[in-house]
Amino acid sequence: MSLAAYPNLRLRRTRASGWSRTMHRETVLTPSDLIWPLFVTSGSGAEEPIASLPGVSRWSVDQIALRAKEAVRLGIPCVALFPHTPSDKRSDDGAEALSPDNLMCQAIRAIRDACGSDIGILTDVALDPYTSHGQDGLLDPAGYVVNDDTVAVLVDQALNQADAGADIIAPSDMMDGRVKAIRMALEMNSHPNVQIMSYAAKYASAFYGPFRDAVGSGGLLKGDKKSYQMDPANAAEALREVELDLAEGADSVMVKPGLAYLDIIWRVKQRFDVPVFAYQVSGEYALIEAGAAAGIADREALLMEKLIAFKRAGCSGVLTYHAPLAARLLGA
Ligand code: PBG
Repeated sequence: MSLAAYPNLRLRRTRASGWSRTMHRETVLTPSDLIWPLFVTSGSGAEEPIASLPGVSRWSVDQIALRAKEAVRLGIPCVALFPHTPSDKRSDDGAEALSPDNLMCQAIRAIRDACGSDIGILTDVALDPYTSHGQDGLLDPAGYVVNDDTVAVLVDQALNQADAGADIIAPSDMMDGRVKAIRMALEMNSHPNVQIMSYAAKYASAFYGPFRDAVGSGGLLKGDKKSYQMDPANAAEALREVELDLAEGADSVMVKPGLAYLDIIWRVKQRFDVPVFAYQVSGEYALIEAGAAAGIADREALLMEKLIAFKRAGCSGVLTYHAPLAARLLGA
């Protein structure tokens, strides 16, 4: 056979052994890429499994502190907190969000006591865990979520969280102008170093179902969130959202959900080259678990393949309910 029959380049050559694959790997995932979302509930010593999120529980404040310590041990740099507000503390205006002693603030303080500055505490700003109607903001008589009055409440919610010790404020409400309003309030109230990670491109998604159960707003929500969350058909609009949030003072931006929006992550990273985070949301977690339970998916392999995809697309990190499992698989 003549030499010309052989290719000069054999891309399989570098794939032939494990050491070589390791050496040529373009993207790496480490526990420091993970942010662990945690659900807080009332009581003490309490763990409440969440049926639609098998393997995920709500934890009382004392237990949340233990989970945060676990995160530190696993090398996970940050936890994200969401409260399950008891129904008697929910109201039309979500006023519980402003209480300095709400579950969120208690959890922030407990984690700070337990872990000091060894962990970042990210807190969600939106009213849905506190409203009796499950929408993220205030409603007008027609049931429309009003923008500017909602922003005024979100600013107070963010300050309440920052006062309790939050490190990163993460507005997930998709109101216009909220990043600017929150940034100004943080500056004027002695929190210059509290970061803002904006849920900049957040889509009206069918992947959020289990989360709404987890915070207890699923059964309450009438209608949908399409008048503020984005249309899954839109990408150029996501870039405008990101551009605005950056101009308003966001330190980092989030794309949510994750896997179905890898193109958005990629475009945001290419265009703005700022820290981008993906939220692998509750429905994405639940589908991996359902696939594993049905025997049609290898949970660990599927998870790691998806997480590396976020990194490859340009993410600085990923919020995932699988964070502790992923950290362990990465050798933590
Ligand atoms: C609240 C909020 C939601 C999620 C994060 N913050 C739900 C929603 O917008 O309805 C979803 C997270 C998940 O599904 O894991 N605004």
